[in-house]
This record gives sequence, structure tokens and C-alpha cells, in this order.
Amino acid sequence: MRTTQKTILLCAGLILGAGVTVAQGVGTASGYPVPKDDLTTQQQTGKGLYLRYCVGCHGKYGDGEGENAPYIDPKPRDFTVATFKCRSTPTGTLPLDSDLIHTIERGIRGSNMPSWLPLSDENREDLIAYIKTFSPRWKKEKPGDPIQIPPEPAVTAERITAGQAMFKKLECWKCHGVEGRGNGPSAATLTDDKDRPITPYDFTTGHKFKCGVTDQDVYRIFMTGLDGTPMPSFADNVKPDEAWDLVFYLRTFQMHTREKEMAKQMGLKPIDPNAPNPTDNK
Ligand code: HEC
Ligand code: HEC
Repeated sequence: MRTTQKTILLCAGLILGAGVTVAQGVGTASGYPVPKDDLTTQQQTGKGLYLRYCVGCHGKYGDGEGENAPYIDPKPRDFTVATFKCRSTPTGTLPLDSDLIHTIERGIRGSNMPSWLPLSDENREDLIAYIKTFSPRWKKEKPGDPIQIPPEPAVTAERITAGQAMFKKLECWKCHGVEGRGNGPSAATLTDDKDRPITPYDFTTGHKFKCGVTDQDVYRIFMTGLDGTPMPSFADNVKPDEAWDLVFYLRTFQMHTREKEMAKQMGLKPIDPNAPNPTDNK
């Protein structure tokens, strides 16, 4: 599986490299014949780009069943259901265009979804216009109101301890494990919306997340949830200040972070799921 994934990634990279040269040569025009359906000019341009760059994974019908799909895990997104992981908007709502643009620019860590940064901004907007034609939700619904992220406070030992208590209380550990290694007691049983097995993120493996790299991105991930996966939104259970505590605690799992260094100095031990929370007695 590993080798297949790498090969596909490599192919995607080569195709991207070759395709982009062509795309730059012709500006926004895709070079594909204009389809005879009721698409706007922008959607038609997007369709041309989609058929060139995206169809191999996301499929002709946008259902995630492209010819590469059988060989990759996680599977390409099915655009016909319009469920997206990376949103600034509350769980269950449609993302903003800027959310989709950022994902297309960034690519998705731990998956075969490449970064499409070399495409022009205009091309990315055309692609989004076309992707939206796959689901009627985009005609009926408006994107949600983005969640507000207050300015990041200074990280302190108290905040890290408070974040650890939240990690325990909210039972993040049941999936992510007491050391953030993605091996909690529920981990092996999890499936996504399409009944496919899915593993919780192992925080110790890097600094990138599916939906970004910054502290703000991490905050957004657990306050909006990764829709279509068992990773829920905690917006109803976590106050903004507590959310920052949690961000700092999650950073203690990662290599070479200031939070990990602080946790070491504090002599912080992983949580004991069976011990009562210090705050429970207050
Ligand atoms: C090599 C395969 C591959 C190609 C080519 C590809 N994608 Fe993806 N894409 C994926 C996979 C796999 C996922 C799901 C990743 C995950 O769930 O972690 C994904 C997810 C997405 C998402 C969903 C993001 C979210 O928040 O849920 C969007 C939008 C997207 N791709 C757009 C595109 C566009 C636009 C193109 C073409 C320019 C493209 N993809 C080309 C594999 C691919
Ligand atoms: C029911 C199981 C479950 C619980 C509880 C849970 N998570 Fe997750 N979490 C997941 C899964 C599964 C993923 C991976 C989703 C994916 O790969 O698309 C994930 C992904 C994440 C990510 C993004 C990692 C990445 O791949 O970019 C963050 C951050 C995160 N979880 C934080 C938390 C925090 C903080 C809590 C508690 C407040 C929590 N999770 C509780 C299952 C869970």
C-alpha cells in the first residue's frame, strides 16, 4: 500500500508539473472543448481544469470514484454530498470559498490530495465554481458564519495543565490516546460517513494538520469538527479561553515545540483516564 501511495503521489506531481506549464501558457483557458451544457463561463473553465487535474481522483461525476481512487486511502472527497473537512464554518454547514481555496493551495497532509499552489488564483476560483455544480446543496444553502477566534494568549504552565484537563474531560484521549499517538481505546473501531475505517491523528508524527499548521488552524479544527469523520465539533462544550488551553496542550505531543519543552520542565505526566479530574472536586 505504501509504495502504491508513493507512486500515485509521484504521478500526480508529474502531471501537475507538466499541466501547469501548459496552463500558464494559455492563461485561464483550459484548452478543452467548451462543453454543451448549462454551465457559466467560469464553470466551463473550471470543468476544463478539473478534467485535466482532478478527475483522476475525484472522478468524472465528482463522486470521488476517479480511476486512482481504488488505490488510495483516505479516499478522494465525494463532491456530490458537499461535506468538507476543512472549514472555518460550524459543523454541518457549507464552507466558505476561501476555505476551499486554502485547501486546494495547501493540499491535505497524510493523503494523496496534492498542493495546487502552482495554479493561478483565478484557476482555483474556476475549479471551485465547477466543484459546486456537483451538489444541489450549493444552490439551496449558504455557507455558515465563520467561527470567531480570539487573539492567542501567552502560553503558560497553568494553561498547559488546564488544556490537559480539557483533553481528559472531553475524552479526546479515547480516540487520540493519552499520549496523542492516535491509539486510544476507541481508535480501532472508528469509521467515516461512508463506513470506511479511519484512524485518529497521531500528534507525535509532525507539525502539519489536515486543515493547516498554525495554532489558529488547530483551534478551528476542533471547534468546527472534520465533517464526514468521527472527529466532532466541540464548539458547544468549549469556551474560547479553554480552546486555547487545549491547543497548547496538543502542542506538547509534538516534537520540538515550546509547549513540549515546557511540559518537560513541568514534569507533566500523561493523563490517567481512571483518576478523577482535579477540577471534578471543585
Ligand atoms: C492524487 C489524487 C488527487 C487529486 C489529483 C486531487 N485530489 Fe483532491 N483530494 C484527494 C483526497 C485523497 C482527498 C481527501 C483527503 C482526506 O480526506 O484527508 C481530497 C480532498 C479534496 C477536497 C476536500 C477538502 C475538504 O475540506 O474536505 C477538495 C476541495 C479537493 N480535494 C479539491 C481538489 C481539486 C480542485 C483538485 C484538482 C485541482 C484535486 N482535489 C485533485 C485526492 C486528490
Ligand atoms: C470519536 C473519536 C474522536 C474524538 C473523541 C476526538 N477526535 Fe480528534 N480526530 C478523530 C479522527 C478520526 C481524526 C482524523 C480525521 C481525518 O483523518 O480526517 C481526528 C483528527 C483530529 C485533529 C486533526 C488532525 C489532522 O489530521 O489534521 C485534531 C487537531 C483533533 N482531532 C483534535 C481533537 C481534540 C482536541 C479532541 C478533544 C477535544 C478530539 N480530537 C476528540 C477522532 C476523534
